[in-house]
Amino acid sequence: MNDRDGYDLGPDRLFPGLADPVLSSASLLNEIASRHPHAIPMAAGRPYDDFFDPAELPGLIGDYQRHLSNELGLDRVEVTRRLFQYGRTAGHIGALVARTLAHDHGITADPDAIVVLTGAQEGMFTVARALCASPRDVLLVTSPCYVGMLGAAKLLGIETAAVPERPDGLAAADVAAVAARIRSAGRRPVALYLVPNFSNPSGHTLTLTQRRELLEVAATHRMLLIEDDPYGFLADSSCRVPALKALDRDRRVVHIGTFAKTCFPGARVGYVVADQRVGLPDGGRGLLADQLALIRSMITVNTSAIAQAVIGGMLLRCGGRLSEANQGRVAHYRRNLTMLLHALEREFPPAVREAYGVSWTQPVAGFFVVLRVPFVVDDDTLRLSATRYGVLWMPMSYFYVGGGPRRELRLSCSALDPEQIDEGVRRVAALVRDCAGNEEDNRDDDATVPADAVHRS
Ligand SMILES: Cc1ncc(COP(=O)(O)O)c(C=O)c1O
Repeated sequence: MNDRDGYDLGPDRLFPGLADPVLSSASLLNEIASRHPHAIPMAAGRPYDDFFDPAELPGLIGDYQRHLSNELGLDRVEVTRRLFQYGRTAGHIGALVARTLAHDHGITADPDAIVVLTGAQEGMFTVARALCASPRDVLLVTSPCYVGMLGAAKLLGIETAAVPERPDGLAAADVAAVAARIRSAGRRPVALYLVPNFSNPSGHTLTLTQRRELLEVAATHRMLLIEDDPYGFLADSSCRVPALKALDRDRRVVHIGTFAKTCFPGARVGYVVADQRVGLPDGGRGLLADQLALIRSMITVNTSAIAQAVIGGMLLRCGGRLSEANQGRVAHYRRNLTMLLHALEREFPPAVREAYGVSWTQPVAGFFVVLRVPFVVDDDTLRLSATRYGVLWMPMSYFYVGGGPRRELRLSCSALDPEQIDEGVRRVAALVRDCAGNEEDNRDDDATVPADAVHRS
């Protein structure tokens, strides 16, 4: 390499984890999506665009500003600082988050135990960083697992151990078996990361019994549970199960949440409830939340004050009852999921399903359905799907520790209109039929999308 031509870094000069497919999955997806802007986007778990109105933003900030002066009694200078200056590392809206968690999830949280973070993603990163103290430590994750957690662990050099989900979700006995195996190898299982409601990607929702059993296993194996719950606010009375944190009697659960799916993801506002007491090097005691704030002070410093003001305004407007305020969204997502499941039934009636060896999950709510197919699904299959069939989805291999070949793909329905769901599933079905029939012949990246396929997306 000649420096006079410009300084280039070889792969050996970069952190090896950067080459992991988990990290490149999002950029690959973005790259394919940008090359195929008309493909039906069944990949990302984004909220539906029509829920957002830019005209609302100034009013929400105004509501929060009035709350600061009228209810908290701050003077003009302090209110201005709250909105414009660097802010408290743990965030300013902890009390509003605590009220919402109490109403909607039955979680009693001291605002001092809440850290407001830049999305749930920063929550995963800070929690994993704080809890994994030595190379002996192992983080248990569900398998499949949300890529954000796998990616954070990879960047932090933290080893993960997969606990396979069963067809009805995560079994405490399987968690116990993995934890015991880790201990017998002289290592320490520190925590289990899981998404208990309408999981991403599997769609599972754990029953009350499964949650209680997990709490017991965590206590027996001296582990924490890291509950990531972006979708819990979208539950209605037909499918609401108490949060693990609401059932937690001995500070066993670290609860991560976000307003991405219920308010808007562009705000990048999430939070962690971390009420665990920790011993400090000087002999004193503090809360895990303080340690998370310490970590984030060296990453994002604090969550955008303006973003907190907007989310604060939303929480004030709904009186801390976000689930109630979200009824319209819940209905949209429920209808879309029902349509997706019906469209799969229509495209794969029992005889076809059997002939091709196709099946899919039946989540009660949430954004995702996993489709099992009779061929290996990888990045090339996704490219083929985008170019020839005009539909995007996520290969499930991204969601497994160590990747590896998988015969599954994840379909998302949250951001789509009904016609897009119907057409998207029709295209997925065409792909499945063709790939099942002749896998090799269909690996042609230069294939073009039929004109009708493009314009209907
Ligand atoms: C399980 C899970 N956790 C966390 C997130 C990301 O949350 P945020 O946008 O607040 O970082 C998502 C988003 O898709 C998710 O599905």
